[in-house]
Amino acid sequence: MTVTTPPASRAARVLSRPIALNGLTVPNRIVMAPMTRMFSPGGVPGEDVRSYYARRAAAGVGLIVTEGTYVGHESAGQSDRVPRFHGEEQLAGWAEVAADVHAAGGTIVPQLWHIGMVRKQGEPPFADAPAVGPSGLVTAGAEPTGKAMTQADLDAVIGAFAQAAADAERIGFDGVEIHGAHGYLLDQFLWEGTNRRTDAYGGDPVARTRFSAEIVAAVRAAVSPGFPVIFRYSQWKQQDYTARLAETPEELEALLTPLAAAGVDVFHASTRRYWLPEFEGSDLNLAGWTKKLTGKQVITVGSVGLDGDFVKAFQGEGSEVKGIEDLLDRLEADEFDMVAIGRALLQDPEWAAKVLSDRFDELKPYDAAALKSLS
Ligand SMILES: Cc1cc2nc3c(=O)[nH]c(=O)nc-3n(C[C@H](O)[C@H](O)[C@H](O)COP(=O)(O)O)c2cc1C
Repeated sequence: MTVTTPPASRAARVLSRPIALNGLTVPNRIVMAPMTRMFSPGGVPGEDVRSYYARRAAAGVGLIVTEGTYVGHESAGQSDRVPRFHGEEQLAGWAEVAADVHAAGGTIVPQLWHIGMVRKQGEPPFADAPAVGPSGLVTAGAEPTGKAMTQADLDAVIGAFAQAAADAERIGFDGVEIHGAHGYLLDQFLWEGTNRRTDAYGGDPVARTRFSAEIVAAVRAAVSPGFPVIFRYSQWKQQDYTARLAETPEELEALLTPLAAAGVDVFHASTRRYWLPEFEGSDLNLAGWTKKLTGKQVITVGSVGLDGDFVKAFQGEGSEVKGIEDLLDRLEADEFDMVAIGRALLQDPEWAAKVLSDRFDELKPYDAAALKSLS
C-alpha cells in the first residue's frame, strides 16, 4: 500500500500505527465495517465484488471485514444475492477476493453470518428451510413464527461456523469475524427478549452466552492458534434499536467473559454513534468498556466520517458530531484499538487515503444512492 502521509498529520501518525491481532499484523488502524451489498448472484462473489474490496485496500484500509456471508446451514440466510461461505464455486470466488485484497496491500476476514429468526420467505438454494432461533421468536413479545432449535440444530450450526472458519484459513483469509450482533441468530440467544429457553442455553447472561461461546470454541479449534477470531456484538437490534443486552458493566462482563475465555482475540463492539457513553458515570463507549472488562483488543464503529456534519467537524468548523480529534484522542488513550468505517467507505473508496494524508477537504458526505452500485 502506498499512502503519502505528511509528517504534520496527527491523523496519519495515530491511524497508521500497525497492530498485531494474534498472529496477523494489520498495517494500520482503519477497518472496513461489514456491509451487506447483495451483488453476488448465486451466492458467488464475482469480479465486481473483488475490485470493490481491493480498491479500498489499495487506498489504505488496513483490515477489511467482508459483508455478512452465510455459513453452510440451510436456514442461515434468505437471499440468493448475499454471498455464501460454502460451496465450491462460492469459496473459489472468495479465494480470489482474498488474493486481490492481499495484492493491494490489505488484510481481510469474512464475516460469518446466520440470520436465525429474521429469515422470512427464502430463495434458493434452501427456499423451504424453516426460520430457526432459540425460541422461535423474531423479537421480544412476538408470537413464535419459527422453530425453537433442538440440540441437533445447535450442533449443526456450530459445525457450520467451524467449517467456514477452517475454509477461510484454507483459501487464504487472514482471520474470521463471527457475527454475533444486530438481532441475528447469535444475538437472538444473547438477548433475553428472544431467548426464552429454560435449558442450558437460556436464563442468566452466562447461559445466554453459551451458544456463542460454543461457536467461538469450535471456530478456535478449527483454525491455527495464530489465526485471529473476531466477535462482533451490539446492544441494538435491527428489530429494536433501543434494546440492550446489558444495563450495567457487571451484566456486560458476565456476557463477555465466557466469549473471551472461549478464544475471542478481538471484540468488535457495534454502536451507531461511537462517541456516546455506554453506562452512566464514565465517558467510555461500548468498545472502551469491552476492552476494560475483557482485556482484549477492540474495534469501535458508528458514524465515523459519515455525513456533512462530520466532514465539517473534520475541517474544524464545529458540529454536534464528533470529529477526528476526539477519535484520535480515544485511540491514543487506548480506549479502543481500531476504528471501523461503514457508510463513509461505502460512499468513497478513497476515504482512508484522504484521512491518512490530511485531505479532509476532499471527504464526501454520505448519499444513500451509493448503495445502488458497487463502485
Ligand atoms: C448497507 C449496510 C449494510 C450493512 N450490513 C452489515 C452486515 O452485513 N453485517 C454487520 O455486522 N453490519 C452491517 N452493517 C452495519 C455496519 O457494519 C456498521 O456497523 C454501521 O453502518 C455503522 O457504521 P457507519 O456509521 O460507519 O456506517 C451494515 C450497514 C450498512 C449501511
